[in-house]
Amino acid sequence: MKVPIRGIGEINKIRLKGTVVRYGERVTALNIEELEFGKGIHVVMGPNGAGKSTLLYLVSGMLKPTAGKVILNDLINIAEISARARTELRKHHYSILLQEDIFIEHISVYDNIALPFTIHGQPAPDETIKELSETFGIRGLLMRKPSELSGGEKRKVSIVRALVKAPYSSVILLDEPTSNLDTSSTELLIEEIKKKLKDKICLIATHDIEFAAIGDKMIKLRAGRVISKSTQAQQL
Ligand SMILES: Nc1ncnc2c1ncn2[C@@H]1O[C@H](COP(=O)(O)OP(=O)(O)OP(=O)(O)O)[C@@H](O)[C@H]1O
Ligand SMILES: [Mg+2]
Repeated sequence: MKVPIRGIGEINKIRLKGTVVRYGERVTALNIEELEFGKGIHVVMGPNGAGKSTLLYLVSGMLKPTAGKVILNDLINIAEISARARTELRKHHYSILLQEDIFIEHISVYDNIALPFTIHGQPAPDETIKELSETFGIRGLLMRKPSELSGGEKRKVSIVRALVKAPYSSVILLDEPTSNLDTSSTELLIEEIKKKLKDKICLIATHDIEFAAIGDKMIKLRAGRVISKSTQAQQL
């Protein structure tokens, strides 16, 4: 498939078909017959080890399926493109919050937040970084090193980094965003997601049942399989 990554425009549909992820010979982390994500907030729930992070890795192209397809806009199958093309895809179309907070330790918090831009030689949106840092109460921490932050502060930095890139992305992947967050920060995050991410494809993996109410749709995974799909109206 020879479609240039930049040329696919905004991503508005992601479809998985017969998609299997195995880690080694023994673990089948994901086995999905058919699943489609359009614009809106999709919450992915399930117990530890259910395959939530694996699903997000797969959709991001950080992981290739062992079998099956991950198709964007009915045009590009992530399973068939090169690692370089998948990196391009993330650069132009994705904003990702991983389950673990990963930083470059010898640069400042500010520079870590700017990294999704600066790593590609692009200027980072300074105003947005400052505004979102203010919102989440980390403005005073921007010149520190990541090792000088508490667990919750680190999570907020990762969240701000993902939210700063979100307006430039069509797919937003948030893996356990509320882990380590206090109640008021969780409320701020809910507001930001509702205000800014509804017209994107947004996948959120979470254990937090209250926070999960943010979803337009909910998918439950168990042992790598989809055990239920519902819309918000069906949950009420
Ligand atoms: N690198 C790996 N090598 C081998 N097995 C792995 C690897 N990463 C994950 N697994 C296994 O794959 C399955 C799915 O893991 P995954 O991290 O996707 O679960 P999860 O739903 O995100 O769990 P959690 O709620 O703990 O974050 C688990 O059985 C896990 O043990
Ligand atoms: Mg996980």
